[in-house]
Amino acid sequence: MAEHADRPAYPVGLRLSGRRVVVVGGGQVAQRRLPALIAAGADIVLVSPSATASVEAMADAGEIRWERRPYADGDLTDTWYALIATDDDAANEAASAEAERTRTWCVRSDDAEAATAWTPATGRSEGVTVAVLTAGAHGRDPRHSAAVRDAIVEGLRDGSIAAPHHRTRTAGVALVGGGPGDPDLITVRGRRLLAEADVVIADRLGPRDLLDELPPHVEVIDAAKIPYGRFMAQEAINNALIEHAKAGKAVVRLKGGDPFVFGRGMEEAQALAAEGIPCTVVPGISSSISVPGAAGIPVTHRGVAHEFTVVSGHVAPDDERSLVDWEALARLRGTLVLLMAVDKIGAIARALIEHGRSPETPVALVQEGTTAAQRRVDATLATVAERASAEGVRPPAVIVIGDVVAVGPATAPTAR
Ligand SMILES: C[S@@+](CC[C@H](N)C(=O)[O-])C[C@H]1O[C@@H](n2cnc3c(N)ncnc32)[C@H](O)[C@@H]1O
Repeated sequence: MAEHADRPAYPVGLRLSGRRVVVVGGGQVAQRRLPALIAAGADIVLVSPSATASVEAMADAGEIRWERRPYADGDLTDTWYALIATDDDAANEAASAEAERTRTWCVRSDDAEAATAWTPATGRSEGVTVAVLTAGAHGRDPRHSAAVRDAIVEGLRDGSIAAPHHRTRTAGVALVGGGPGDPDLITVRGRRLLAEADVVIADRLGPRDLLDELPPHVEVIDAAKIPYGRFMAQEAINNALIEHAKAGKAVVRLKGGDPFVFGRGMEEAQALAAEGIPCTVVPGISSSISVPGAAGIPVTHRGVAHEFTVVSGHVAPDDERSLVDWEALARLRGTLVLLMAVDKIGAIARALIEHGRSPETPVALVQEGTTAAQRRVDATLATVAERASAEGVRPPAVIVIGDVVAVGPATAPTAR
């Protein structure tokens, strides 16, 4: 092999679907490599007397065939590709020799120089596979390969590497859940669509910081400022989405949290569907779970709460427009998470106590969760209205009611 050492490897994409691949050894290396081989549709035979629990689970699920025995000469017959990764030097050597003899491309975990193939550091982003090999005059450097791979995949995902699609872009509107506010808490897909947008129509809540990063040609529209004249505000937003999409723009409707949690996302999707405009929905991290979490409150906790209920508090319990059964909620033992409830918390707390919840039930108000301005105010059902007003708690805030409020560690986890 020495005469080949400083030659670069020849990169290629193997199409292994339905083709026999043999993995010799069922340890950590196999565990790491098998998922990609399974995803490629290979006909995988594992030859190994033992396997890790995860590899065993793949065999139990029928994703690989496992022959529980040591390697034997002849195992590589009719094999297209082999991965040799046992801790038995003699077995590795013998399997490698068979691979050489049978012209089977073969990766070795114990001796890369003796192998006929190398596994690149790979990553995927939206249908693109990035595979990186470092080799040649400077030798193999798998850590450098992984670092290059990470930089490229991250850049593609967040749009900082501009790689325009040459096939037509997905036309229409993306309803993107932006998460609770911290710009790191948007999904990878949401961030990529944002980077590809021509027009972004954004809510007041959500990751506003991301808007600053958009290139100057992107038109950013504040949803709260769309003039609505003879229309309702929501109708005016729908019209703006439709108008820009019909003009052939890639439109992102950036919403706080998840588009379908009190986000009117489906109304927008329906309005687009009525106009025949394609709409992609990208889920987001809802403030209902993430904001309590950022303040050190788990919405469930073993032995404390086996359920959590997310409720809108935008209308008071005695308001005839209310669709909430407060009496039933008062009877539940689990966690109540209230959104849009700062103004009505007094009436809500009274209704819950009146219908049987203990006045001593712990309550936390978490304002502007996951942002630099996050703060938490603790109270009980009996004191929450007075505490919220005395502390000047303002929307946006999530209010958590239940024993989970008190289970956090003595030192709260990092708030953001
Ligand atoms: C119209 S709802 C939208 C909820 C959003 N779709 C979600 O899944 O988080 C707005 C309410 O969400 C809550 N909220 C959203 N972001 C928040 C944040 N960062 N901190 C506290 N509350 C937040 C507040 O209760 C706010 O009044």
